Amino acid sequence: MQCRQRWMTLETICPDTPGIMSTDSLHRLDSSESTLLLCRSADTVSLLWFGPALPRDLDVQELLKSLDLPCEQAKLDQPVPLSLVPMSSDGFLGRPALAAHRDGKHFAPRLSCVSIKPAPADPQSTLVITLEDSLAGLLMTTNLHLDDTSSVLSISTELQNNGTDGLHVEWLASGTIPLPDQFSECLSMHGRWGFEFQQQRHSIDNAQLTIENVAGRTSHEHFPGLVCGERSFCEDNGVVLGLHLAYSGNYRLLTERLANGKAYVQAGAAFLPGEITLDPGTTMTAPMLCVVCASGLNQMSQRFHDYARRHILPAWTRAERPIHANSWEALYFEHSTESLLPLVEAAAAVGAERFVLDDGWFQGRRNDKSGLGDWWVDKDVYPEGLKPLVTHVRKHGMQFGLWFEPEMVNPDSILYREHPEWTLHVEGYETPLARDQLVLNLDLAEVRDYLYDCISVLVKEHSIDYIKWDMNRDLVFPGSNGRASVVRQTEGVYALLQKLTTEFPALEIESCSSGGARADFGILLYTGRVWTSDTIDPIDRLNIQRGFSLFFPPEIMGSHIGHDVAHLTGRSTSLHTRAAVSLQGQMGFELDARVLNEQDREALSPYIRLYKDSRAWHSSSTLWRVPTRDSDLFIQGRVSAQQENSIWTIVTRASLASTIPERFVFKGLAPQKRYHVQPLQIEHIAGYAKKLPTWATEGTTLSGSSLMSTGLVLPVMPAQSSLVVLCDVAP
Ligand code: GLA
Repeated sequence: MQCRQRWMTLETICPDTPGIMSTDSLHRLDSSESTLLLCRSADTVSLLWFGPALPRDLDVQELLKSLDLPCEQAKLDQPVPLSLVPMSSDGFLGRPALAAHRDGKHFAPRLSCVSIKPAPADPQSTLVITLEDSLAGLLMTTNLHLDDTSSVLSISTELQNNGTDGLHVEWLASGTIPLPDQFSECLSMHGRWGFEFQQQRHSIDNAQLTIENVAGRTSHEHFPGLVCGERSFCEDNGVVLGLHLAYSGNYRLLTERLANGKAYVQAGAAFLPGEITLDPGTTMTAPMLCVVCASGLNQMSQRFHDYARRHILPAWTRAERPIHANSWEALYFEHSTESLLPLVEAAAAVGAERFVLDDGWFQGRRNDKSGLGDWWVDKDVYPEGLKPLVTHVRKHGMQFGLWFEPEMVNPDSILYREHPEWTLHVEGYETPLARDQLVLNLDLAEVRDYLYDCISVLVKEHSIDYIKWDMNRDLVFPGSNGRASVVRQTEGVYALLQKLTTEFPALEIESCSSGGARADFGILLYTGRVWTSDTIDPIDRLNIQRGFSLFFPPEIMGSHIGHDVAHLTGRSTSLHTRAAVSLQGQMGFELDARVLNEQDREALSPYIRLYKDSRAWHSSSTLWRVPTRDSDLFIQGRVSAQQENSIWTIVTRASLASTIPERFVFKGLAPQKRYHVQPLQIEHIAGYAKKLPTWATEGTTLSGSSLMSTGLVLPVMPAQSSLVVLCDVAP
């Protein structure tokens, strides 16, 4: 068999602009830490490299020679490089980036590269690739933006139907990324209600590994992110590529090794049968895919956090995050002025700064069987409306927050009785209920308008500071006019949020979905806090919060102190452990503060004080997860951007195998700076050994380099205990 020379016109790349360098055949994007190389050969564009920064003076000719592919036997007569938009028409045997047709015709489009150009609006860091199949009437535009600071590559893809009839789209990948040959392993996250963000490992083999979410929301089950890397990659070692799809509907992420040894990863929104038909002249946009290359998981997370802070999250997330007190586990549906007013007082007394009235305040909502959709205050419970409560909350120096679940309706509601046609449904089938509720069709402008009006009236009337935006069921029969409508539903949710956040820019919105079933960069463009999980059990929260931290920064993680006996698990834990785990995120109370006695308040006060004293630097801090030999020892910390302050939480999930825990070797400190190290409190674990390490009683002052090498001997820690260690630059 004969091989064709792949690279025809070659030049040496000259560093003309700092961000982008292009020749006919090679296009380059650089950030502070990464380089992306795109190769255009004839009609095909392939991603030659996305990884650690390459030298500026690359000899293109020699590079292309070194990467030129051999031509395999028993295959096409020319090598098939992994294109950025791989298609079966190129001879690609994996999942094509586009699966579309016109009633069966044009089933195998061939997208040829028309141009690769710097984006006029952002010529330093965005390349625009245009591909076309003029026979099939398709135009695809892919924007590659490489963020200079975080090195996150964001990919946005648009598909335009230039034909004269409808185009049925079954799959449009947001991006396809070839993996370095040495990558052999990947990490995904699965979960369930009360147990989200659980990590699992897979090997990248010669069979497709597909993570598919069809829940109609981001879901507990499958997180829209994947980390691929070298064998046994861990927190601080191994090159990894982290991917996250910024989307809250259905999606698919997959990885596969082809017979020629090349592996790739691909992600995009998943469509139900017949869901997407593009009318002639119209365009669809795939959800944004974010990709970052890093050395180890810690660095990957830090880069995603940085990117989210600067490009995704609402501006208010950078302000000091208040301590919440949420009424849910204190009262459930038992709302009354007699119980709420003392609860407000007790919450304020323990340090809460924002009181959140959870489910149960609106018309007919005495339990979870009725009321959703009737978003006005129930006068049977609040005869004078919410005003007396809100006034009481403000009198106690707190902000006021309110729970909504806008996308839902109970059949037992006034709204449903008036507008049964407003639900997602398929004529002739009964939609199964989940928590006795159905889903409103947010593709309908009248539904969005109704919800906007209900919410905005209350926001204005009470100057509501914060909304807990809940969404408590999977979508089954998500039909609108007889056709599948998850994409339009998801866009409808975004549109409603967009309208509200434009009208009320200071309004803070939290994304909750039966706990953490809607956490992704898509929803976080409008919301800036995530209710991580319905479980407040600090022991289960260790893994949940750890998984969450892979992609999201800690200051947006709702992390509350619960009751001594956790409602979801029945596990009893000490107040110290609950408070230490809560310190990992945005602190709050998910308990009946009225039951806290003087001793409890005293025990809590150092944690509350620490949170308030340090939070000014939380939203610019660097998160570090400390790897430990004993998997039941959890250590993680946040270090201020100037590396002057740091807070470390150390928690034992179960009894450790050794009497003395392994040494705690710090991370992320400045080697030359001298730090004073001390425990926040020690008395609660002092009794478990005959003697404490000296630093635990006297403190110690050491250089960052010493703390990051010789480390710190930990005190004896029994199962489910905690220790908070402070490490601040010595005066
Ligand atoms: C969901 C949320 C909870 C709470 C309840 C109220 O389950 O995750 O935090 O708000 O709804 O019904």
